[in-house]
Amino acid sequence: MHRTALLLVAALAVARPAAADVVFYTGEELQRIFSLGPWPPPSLIKARDPSNRVSGQPAAIELGRRLFFGARMSSNGYVACVTCHQTDRAWTDGLARAQAIGPSGRNTPALFNLRMQQWYGWSGGADNLWAQSIRPFLDPNEMDSSPRLVKRVFERDPELACMYRQAFGVEPTGRGETVLANVGKALAAFQETLVTGRTRFDEFRDALARNDRVAARNYPYAAQRGLRLFVGEGRCIACHAGPNFSDGAFHATGVRAPAAVLPDDAGRSGGLRQLRESRYTLLSHHSDDRSSAGAAATRRALGEAAPERAFRTASLRNVAVTAPYMHNGQLATLRDVVRHYSTVDGNGVDPRLPQRLELSESEADDLIAFLETLTDGFGAERPRPAAATSICTE
Ligand code: HEC
Ligand code: HEC
Repeated sequence: MHRTALLLVAALAVARPAAADVVFYTGEELQRIFSLGPWPPPSLIKARDPSNRVSGQPAAIELGRRLFFGARMSSNGYVACVTCHQTDRAWTDGLARAQAIGPSGRNTPALFNLRMQQWYGWSGGADNLWAQSIRPFLDPNEMDSSPRLVKRVFERDPELACMYRQAFGVEPTGRGETVLANVGKALAAFQETLVTGRTRFDEFRDALARNDRVAARNYPYAAQRGLRLFVGEGRCIACHAGPNFSDGAFHATGVRAPAAVLPDDAGRSGGLRQLRESRYTLLSHHSDDRSSAGAAATRRALGEAAPERAFRTASLRNVAVTAPYMHNGQLATLRDVVRHYSTVDGNGVDPRLPQRLELSESEADDLIAFLETLTDGFGAERPRPAAATSICTE
């Protein structure tokens, strides 16, 4: 008797946090929810980058790590990748727009799950990760460097030169442009290791997929309602699709800073211009992918016209810890973003956008509660990747 009562109390104690129930989702809603997983997806784990022959190789990852945290390749010797992509801010800088040697018109994106992207930068100015990784060297407002300066750093640092030899099997003495492309490839190999972990949403999605209602109840009820808006009325999933919450395509969302604040940003059409002018695309001799299939998307994109002020759909993984938002950092909080989508008139901007969604305050709260469950266990504080042993440093 006594024992039974104890068991009953214990059962109630276990049941209490699960007092909330599970929202009823229609079959169609469930299919959409399932399409946002599983995490991590095979496409993230797969896969060396065929255009980068050192992708996935430990010696290149270690060289890339060193370069990412080192400032010697900037013109003033003070700016490194980590200046803007900071470990304790989920690889962003917390600023509306990046600022280093000079001001930038764009927000610093987080660096996560990069192998899942086809295009890099807000307007897809690069068609591969190694080209995107050398862009800051060549931008006078970021690191203001040059192929010559980069080569000189290797000439003056025998340890780095040794690491370059380890990674590429040649001396860093070839053409400046080749050395720079290889630096990009080492940086890319390092950044490919930056992936997000599982989130509360992933647990919920998998619980629904197994039809495990007990586990599903651990997911906050407000987030469950927000998820229904996300896959339904809010139309968010029309663009924020798949396990990385991005269709990888370019869309206008009606975000535009007042002309007095910022010069107009053309978005994708500017990105295509950059791509046409770049010497480091998948069509260039710097690409290690000799199959023509690899560059098919680039060839196709170069022949296409871009919608006005379209930007790449941002991934929403870890979005709660990467404020401020949008390509120009114009929206300070998730509430501002939700308010934007709630009031934007998609007419004439992008047919996928909601038209005057006009969410109530409590619906906005629900949508935000959902977005907050997309944060992984580390949140903003990412562990600083440890140095690997290298025969060059002993
Ligand atoms: C001054 C700040 C700053 C510095 C320094 C900087 N970045 Fe960035 N990074 C940015 C901004 C701003 C963007 C967005 C650029 C765009 O839209 O074209 C960006 C975009 C990127 C992207 C594309 C991410 C995506 O999701 O498409 C990668 C990769 C990247 N940076 C890597 C690097 C590497 C590697 C370095 C060092 C060599 C570096 N960054 C240095 C600010 C910076
Ligand atoms: C038409 C496609 C489309 C739809 C529909 C859409 N988004 Fe977006 N979303 C984008 C694009 C594109 C960006 C980047 C826009 C920019 O930088 O100007 C973005 C950016 C965001 C960001 C900021 C991410 C960051 O890191 O800066 C959030 C948050 C967001 N969307 C949430 C939502 C929510 C919630 C909904 C549904 C109410 C939604 N989106 C509907 C395309 C879309």
